[in-house]
Amino acid sequence: MEKTITVLPGDGIGPEVTEAAVKVLQTIAKRYNHIFNLQYALIGGAAIDACENPLPEETVELCTQSDAVLLGAVGGPKWDQNPSHLRPEKGLLAIRKQLGLFANIRPIKAIPALLDASPLKKEIAQEVDLVIVRELTGGLYFAEPRKKTNDYALDSLVYTREEIERIVDTAFLLARSRRGKLASVDKANVLDTSKLWRQIVEEKKVGYPDVEVEHMLVDSTAMKLITKPSAFDVIVTENMFGDILSDEASVITGSLGMLPSSSTRGDGFGLYEPIHGSAPDIAGKNIANPAAAILSVAMMLRDAFQMETEASAIEGAVFSVLNDGHFTSDLQTKGKPALSTTEWTAKVLEEL
Ligand code: NAI
Ligand code: MG
Repeated sequence: MEKTITVLPGDGIGPEVTEAAVKVLQTIAKRYNHIFNLQYALIGGAAIDACENPLPEETVELCTQSDAVLLGAVGGPKWDQNPSHLRPEKGLLAIRKQLGLFANIRPIKAIPALLDASPLKKEIAQEVDLVIVRELTGGLYFAEPRKKTNDYALDSLVYTREEIERIVDTAFLLARSRRGKLASVDKANVLDTSKLWRQIVEEKKVGYPDVEVEHMLVDSTAMKLITKPSAFDVIVTENMFGDILSDEASVITGSLGMLPSSSTRGDGFGLYEPIHGSAPDIAGKNIANPAAAILSVAMMLRDAFQMETEASAIEGAVFSVLNDGHFTSDLQTKGKPALSTTEWTAKVLEEL
């Protein structure tokens, strides 16, 4: 197959982990006879430095013309004092919005070789296999009006029927392809947007009789994610709740450096990225864990290109390198010296 992929390395460790992910893509291309045309573009701080715009028009154009997008991470102290239109995160919010990527998908699954790194008891952590489906382009982070003065501030929480329906459908379809369990998370005891959300989930569930649905409040969901995470299969929720719950759930597996994610819009196109940020504290040292970026490539191949064999090969290689006791410095190394980003990537390529 021939596919065009836009690569947005971004800032901090973004370029380092993206380079590792691209090497994996190139190895897959060779071994399975695919052609991946890579086109690089700027986003975030790198784009601000180059052209005073966190999301240049040209970047959006390249993404629009490609089959999928691979992103590193954006942000860093260098731009922290910038006015809001010149902040790196602005580029990320804008690209999700402009490409219409309304569904953020985060699979969180126990990694046997890393159970010791989980803050949860081994018996609890080892059972985890869930996916959080977060609404990404609506709600508090985008809705108008918003306002801030010195003694008054306003954010709006708005959801339309259409926005809720499409994310709920995405989650039902995903639940159907997994263990058939969907937890819809809201705050329907207080918020009207949540009441509408719950009503739409009730309407939709008629079309998915094979999926078992449970409505849960966000506060008790936060508790249950820690006490009994194995109870969850697919979780669907609005933007801010999903932001918080997905960060909470991500630590269960032990390292931020392990988890991939995608942002999609229901037509196969997606933006794939590690969940971690630009890690300015370790940037430029060649010690970042590239696993999340590499596993994001696996997710891209499976979900956007239907390359299941290739995706499984990448995941198999990553887990086998971990099982052999090869770790980057963010993971427990048990006496063995930690590998650098490029050394660890080389092990994965060898395995592939
Ligand atoms: P972060 O995820 O960048 O780092 C948190 C901690 O985890 C740091 O100690 C870092 O060294 C470590 N870490 C993260 N990824 C790692 C990896 N692959 N290997 C080894 N260690 C890793 O989050 P933080 O520090 O809150 O944010 C730093 C910058 O990143 C900020 O400017 C923030 O806005 C931005 N950010 C960007 C995101 C994105 O581009 N999607 C997401 C989250 C934060
Ligand atoms: Mg977040």
